[in-house]
Amino acid sequence: MTEQNDLFAEEPDGSSLPSGHATDETPAAQAERLRNEINQHNYRYYTLDEPSIPDAEYDRLMRTLQNLEQQHPELISADSPTQRVGAQPLTEFEEVQHDIPMLSLDNAMNADEFAAFYQRVQDRLKSHDDIALACEPKLDGLAVSLLYEEGALVRAATRGDGQTGENITQNVRTIKNVPLKLYGDNYPSRIEIRGEVYMPKAGFEAYNDKARENDEKVFANPRNAAAGSLRQLDPKITARRPLEFCAYSIGVVSDDAQLADTHSGILQQVKNWGIKINPEMRVVQGLEAAQTFFETLGEKRHSLDYEIDGTVFKVDDLGLQQTLGFVARAPRWAIAYKFPAVEEMTLLQGVDFQVGRTGALTPVARLNPVHVAGVTVSNATLHNMDEIARLDVKVGDTVIIRRAGDVIPQVVSVVTEKRPADAQDIRMPSHCPVCDSLVEKVEGEAVARCTGGLVCSAQRKEAIKHFASRKALDIEGLGDKLIDQLVDAGLIDSVDDLFHLTLEQLSGLERMAEKSAQNILDALNKAKNTTLARFLYALGIREVGVVTANNLATHFGFLQRIMDASEEALIEVPDVGAIVAAHIHNFFAEQHNRVVIAQLQKAGINWAESEPQTTAQDLPLSGQTAVITGTLTSSNLSRDEAKALLQQLGVKVTGSVSAKTDFLVAGEKAGSKLTKAQSLDVDVLDEQAFLALLAEHGLSPQG
Ligand code: IVH
Repeated sequence: MTEQNDLFAEEPDGSSLPSGHATDETPAAQAERLRNEINQHNYRYYTLDEPSIPDAEYDRLMRTLQNLEQQHPELISADSPTQRVGAQPLTEFEEVQHDIPMLSLDNAMNADEFAAFYQRVQDRLKSHDDIALACEPKLDGLAVSLLYEEGALVRAATRGDGQTGENITQNVRTIKNVPLKLYGDNYPSRIEIRGEVYMPKAGFEAYNDKARENDEKVFANPRNAAAGSLRQLDPKITARRPLEFCAYSIGVVSDDAQLADTHSGILQQVKNWGIKINPEMRVVQGLEAAQTFFETLGEKRHSLDYEIDGTVFKVDDLGLQQTLGFVARAPRWAIAYKFPAVEEMTLLQGVDFQVGRTGALTPVARLNPVHVAGVTVSNATLHNMDEIARLDVKVGDTVIIRRAGDVIPQVVSVVTEKRPADAQDIRMPSHCPVCDSLVEKVEGEAVARCTGGLVCSAQRKEAIKHFASRKALDIEGLGDKLIDQLVDAGLIDSVDDLFHLTLEQLSGLERMAEKSAQNILDALNKAKNTTLARFLYALGIREVGVVTANNLATHFGFLQRIMDASEEALIEVPDVGAIVAAHIHNFFAEQHNRVVIAQLQKAGINWAESEPQTTAQDLPLSGQTAVITGTLTSSNLSRDEAKALLQQLGVKVTGSVSAKTDFLVAGEKAGSKLTKAQSLDVDVLDEQAFLALLAEHGLSPQG
């Protein structure tokens, strides 16, 4: 049993939260009260991880304070919780001298090296007793120093070379869990808090996913992401990055400080001032307990929501720390005991393309098996073709693989110096590796997809579930579980097989009574009479939802016409843009899909077809957007009447002028809309021109 005492589990005293307040308070007093209240909630939320009010209530407090400060700008203070972002971009960072150097740590790479560290400590202290060690995760981010004067954050700096860092105050102010004002009132008049700024794993993954979608820079790991985010000259950019701060020591401190005499005691004080410390932190006695802590944390490592690369052990007693002193740039009283690396180098032997449930083709790197953080890795994701281009990776390359937590191993970079002369480019296959249907790559989309939605076994279950769903063919009783059962039992491969199921097959399934089986057969029969819109939706064409399916059915009237339509013809359908048109066209271009449609019709699926109905699309001015302003004096039309006339011609009438406006109808006394239209080069029609336009299409103000 490890001797671990849970130092930091103490309950906060909730009674200090302010409740009611006098209604006659001055704006200054109100601002002060709101700030205190918000700071208390911040403390509970970020430091104690025990929020006491719902987010909406917190937002309400923030908004009230913002409004108050807007009305009384003289009340705004630098440490107001509303003032995190706001500073202008810098041209460069200023230098900061660290009064007390920011040290680094010696490393231990295995149990022997760690035992040797412990032995050295005991020898130097001439002690045979167990030594109390504070154990903390070694966070994988960037060391940062925060300077507080009279409780207010006055400066934040990077470690730099340990002596000289950079002033990144503007950026650190945007990190939400860094208090702009310390909590409580028993903090020293001046204190420097040191710790790590890092990007939690979830935030990192989400950031990279979005960056990949938008073709922006992707970070190789959370550490680079944290460093890159802090190095922004514009604090507004940093503010959008999900960063956190966690304290692990103090630096400069004023004489009025009353500090604990242990490292863990000081961290508890830091926590009481509203700064996050690591909740995994424990104090253990002796080498064996320390080794156990290391192993336990190693097991827990991947389930933590931030990356760590080891455990930092520090002699807890500050008196003993002083006796031990420093060598060069590292203390003798601390060590970083590292976990196995999460990044390794290996050879990319080839790339396979995996087809997902929705038909997306994902390139997967086949690797020379390599040991990464305790696991043998032989595959890694390459995400999509854009990522392959970004990495500039080829088959035969030596690549760096990263495995973090439960996330699939990733290829993070290429060691280009090691590229062999015969390295091969990676190409997207033109046909699906699973069903041989065409692969579509729509311009503007990162992902390539198999178009064999109805036949591809990788997409089979999803396709059938969609086909049977309520807004599609609405096959009652045919739920997801039953579809799984039917596919797994090999009874159906594709949607048309549904209509050849027999009573015997169905009632042979587990937990299926004959009566239920008959009900399903009846439901299948009933579903055969459907509508073209439902059928189109049921096909599961990408981005063709209920509305688009309806529009397609109304516009074309006949399935065959849709199947044969060109992309240009498809774009004429309301709601269908270039990308959706390409999806529809590619779907029907795939012969396999046409075969399934024919089989479905042969099985009895039917609907009424009719000549297309007129849609707004067919009106003379369809697709045009207009704005009406001013008074139409000679025709005496109200703006609503003028609007109705334009709408009869298919014009969309909106309230404000933008670059998308085709023309502005300007009556007398037209004001800012006219100016805006002129500045945007939008056509302007005076009343006469407007009436002429109506007349041209057979309309007159009298109706
Ligand atoms: S203590 C004198 N504690 O590791 C002690 N450092 O290799 C100085 N780090 O620059 C640091 N987690 O950026 C300490 N719990 C922790 C840490 C930690 C991460 C980083 C820190 C430092 C580097 C030293």
